[in-house]
Amino acid sequence: MSSRRNFFQGIYRHQAERYDRLVAREDAQGKLFGALNEITPLGGLKVVEFGAGTGRLTRLLALQAAQIRAFDIEPAMLWQLALQMRATGMRNWAMALGDNCLMPLASDCADLVIEGWSFAHVREWHPQCWRQRTDVMLREMERIAKPGGAAVLIETLGTGKRRPQPSTKLAELYQYWQEQCGFQSRWIRTDFQFASPAEADELTRFFFGDALADDCLAGGGVMLPECTGIWWKHFS
Ligand SMILES: C[S@@+](CC[C@H](N)C(=O)[O-])C[C@H]1O[C@@H](n2cnc3c(N)ncnc32)[C@H](O)[C@@H]1O
Repeated sequence: MSSRRNFFQGIYRHQAERYDRLVAREDAQGKLFGALNEITPLGGLKVVEFGAGTGRLTRLLALQAAQIRAFDIEPAMLWQLALQMRATGMRNWAMALGDNCLMPLASDCADLVIEGWSFAHVREWHPQCWRQRTDVMLREMERIAKPGGAAVLIETLGTGKRRPQPSTKLAELYQYWQEQCGFQSRWIRTDFQFASPAEADELTRFFFGDALADDCLAGGGVMLPECTGIWWKHFS
């Protein structure tokens, strides 16, 4: 297993609470909700979320969706999701363990299938067969979506970047989505805004590493630029 895969799985297994505090600081200007609503109005939809993690998207989508079912492969992440969702008082959500490649759901059950910051792991975690695994995940989305439904993918285009600048490997994956899988795309800024320099340091260093923390937060900075891509496709 690759060391990058071990690194991230260790965070998802042992530092879910800290991960949730990090992502709660992203999109400080609240652009993502509006962008998603422009792509597919969320009101009244039945949503299935792949790789939901600690539920930052679940919280957002549940504000308008009729129902959202959130899945992840890592129990510790879902535990955190449950804590957060219960705290909101919303009741239109459910969660369960599920692999992005094989979801425990019937076909044609969702208006919207969505993932955020989960599918792109395939590029590093499965360097030899990332295309095949991508095809499996996208087929699973299409199976679960009703005819006329939509799929949305959200991924990073660069942390610490003011303009999209994905790594070579991620650029290859995104090109595949657009040119081979029929996704349209746009991008937005979803900058992180931390409460203090100490918080910025604590939350960026463990996840993004020393180089990025040193580069971007030198001099006590509390803002970390982030570019985010959104890809979408409507099924006929
Ligand atoms: C970077 S986190 C993103 C979590 C969440 N979507 C968010 O927006 O913060 C990646 C998530 O993908 C999950 N994941 C990775 N591989 C998976 C798979 N094959 N099936 C389901 N979830 C997976 C991880 O457990 C982790 O919770």
